[in-house]
Order: sequence, then structure tokens, then C-alpha cells
Amino acid sequence: MTTLDASTAGTFTIGGDMPVTRLGFGGMRITGDGVWGPSADRAQALATLKRLPEIGIDFIDTADSYGPSVSEELIREALHPYGQLRVATKAGLTRSGPGRWDTRGDPDYLVRQAHASRERLGVERIDLWQLHRIDPAVPRGEQFAAIRSLIDGGVVRHAGLSEVTIEEIEAAGQYFPVATVQNRYNLADRSSEAVLEYCERRGIGFIPWFPLASGRLAERGTILDRVAARHEATPGQIAIAWLLKRSPVILPIPGTGKVAHLEENVLGASIRLTDDEFAALDAAASD
Ligand SMILES: NC(=O)c1ccc[n+]([C@@H]2O[C@H](COP(=O)([O-])OP(=O)(O)OC[C@H]3O[C@@H](n4cnc5c(N)ncnc54)[C@H](OP(=O)(O)O)[C@@H]3O)[C@@H](O)[C@H]2O)c1
Repeated sequence: MTTLDASTAGTFTIGGDMPVTRLGFGGMRITGDGVWGPSADRAQALATLKRLPEIGIDFIDTADSYGPSVSEELIREALHPYGQLRVATKAGLTRSGPGRWDTRGDPDYLVRQAHASRERLGVERIDLWQLHRIDPAVPRGEQFAAIRSLIDGGVVRHAGLSEVTIEEIEAAGQYFPVATVQNRYNLADRSSEAVLEYCERRGIGFIPWFPLASGRLAERGTILDRVAARHEATPGQIAIAWLLKRSPVILPIPGTGKVAHLEENVLGASIRLTDDEFAALDAAASD
């Protein structure tokens, strides 16, 4: 039996003092094509956001660059004041058009962007702020020191990184406590396996982006079909249940701009795969 309640996924405590439900929401798909401009169906995007607290989601991932600004503004419009909801944002990528992303990490820029996100979201302090990418053109210590200053200045509560190696997490840890790591990871893409295991050993939250492989794992015709049939579930729900079973520090953030897809994904939180099902999927995906 599946339940439309994200809290069935259990909780993860970010930074040791900020518990959130282990199934969150990705705020990148509530914008226009190429993550640029407003969504073609703004009303549906707003309805999707308003549905989140009703079905137990209390953690949203967004970024200054989604839109840009569109995602943060819509989240505020739909959900402010946030109550128990935690909104995590990021900076470190700039946009020059649909589907175009450029790294920018000079410290003044990062600090300015964090202040701007705080304004747009309408919060006194950002619950979780993540460096979207380490800029290879700027000494990384300067970027990490900027993050430290944001924590010390009360602009952000917890900080994390995105698309990083273990060595980079350890380097950043010299400057601030790394609360979360957001790397691409799903059943079919396991290139960050070692980073996940490192995060698990350290109690760092691991937020896999592309949890549905950008929607491909939600389609029929993959290795997920057989297990999905057994649970009377959809392939996407099984992909989410697999992630939740993979590690207690995993906090998936499937993204959608549609209420129906959101509800379908949340139903995946209550599916409990057996050890055999988990192992069979694991093995099939590694073939
Ligand atoms: N740190 C980073 O560098 C980074 C990079 C990319 C993403 N992210 C974050 O990670 C989140 C998740 O990644 P993502 O949104 O790119 O990929 P995803 O969650 O793997 O897949 C989202 C795609 O799948 C579709 N989808 C969602 N639920 C579905 C369902 N039940 N059935 C069929 N299709 C479904 C969505 O389209 P519809 O809107 O039509 O449902 C969307 O196109 C993002 O929203 C963003 O917050 C972070």
C-alpha cells in the first residue's frame, strides 16, 4: 500500500540540527524551457508548489540561476511564510540564455548572490546555501572563505557544495562545516558512489540531482518494470524507493512542474523494497 505522505521516507537532520523529510522537491522544473524564464504553465507550477506542504514535503531545492530568479520568486509567492518548510538555494552559475550555464565564483559575487536570494525568498537567514560549482578560475579557498563569511554573518545557516570530489569536500571542510553535497546520482548513474559513501561515513547529507535521470527512469521499458509491477507502482516510484533505501543520508529532490507527477513521486516514499529487489536492481543497473 502506498501513502501520499512524503514523511513516510523518514527524516535526515541537516548539519546536525535541521531535520527534514528525506524526500524533498527540486525547484528547477517550475521555470520555462531550458530553465529559462517563466513556466509555460505558471498556474500549474504554483499549484505544484502549494501542494508540497499538504503531502508532507518540507524541503525544497532551488537556485538563483533557475529562471534566473523565477524559481525563487515563485516559491516565495506560493509558500511564504514558510512555517516548517526549509528552502535551500545555491549560487555559482550564471545564465546567458536557455540551457546555458557558466561558472562564476569570485567571492564578492557569491556573497552578493546569497544576499539577493535571501531577499527574493523573503527570509532572515537562508536555511541551506550551496555552492553550485567550484569556479576553477578563482582560488577555491577564496570561494570557501566567502561561504564562511556568509555563515558568520548570519546570512546562511548551513552550507554545502555541488558536483564535488571527496578531496574538494575535505578542502572546503577546512573553512566551514560541509552540511550537504549535491551530486548527480541515480540508479543508472553511479559515478558519485565513492562521494556518497564518504558522505554517509561523515553524516553529510547527500542530495542526488537527476534522481529520475531527468525523467527517463519514470518511463516504462527499463529494468524497473518488473519490480514496479510487483509493487503495483510506477518505474519512477521504484527509482525513488531505491534511492531512499540506498543510504540513510540520501535526500532525493525529484523535480516537476506538475501536480500529478509530484503526487506520483511522493507515493514512492512509502514503498519498501526488499533486500533482494534492491540488489537485483543494483546488479541490473551495473551491467
Ligand atoms: N546541483 C546541480 O547542479 C543540479 C543540477 C540539476 C538539477 N538540480 C536539482 O535537482 C532537482 C532534480 O533534478 P531534475 O529536476 O533535473 O531531474 P529529475 O528529478 O531526475 O527529473 C525531472 C524531469 O522528470 C520529469 N518528471 C518528474 N516526475 C515525473 C513523473 N512522475 N513522471 C514522468 N516524468 C516526471 C519532469 O518533467 P515534468 O515537469 O513534466 O514532470 C522533469 O522533466 C532539480 O529540480 C534541481 O532542484 C541540481
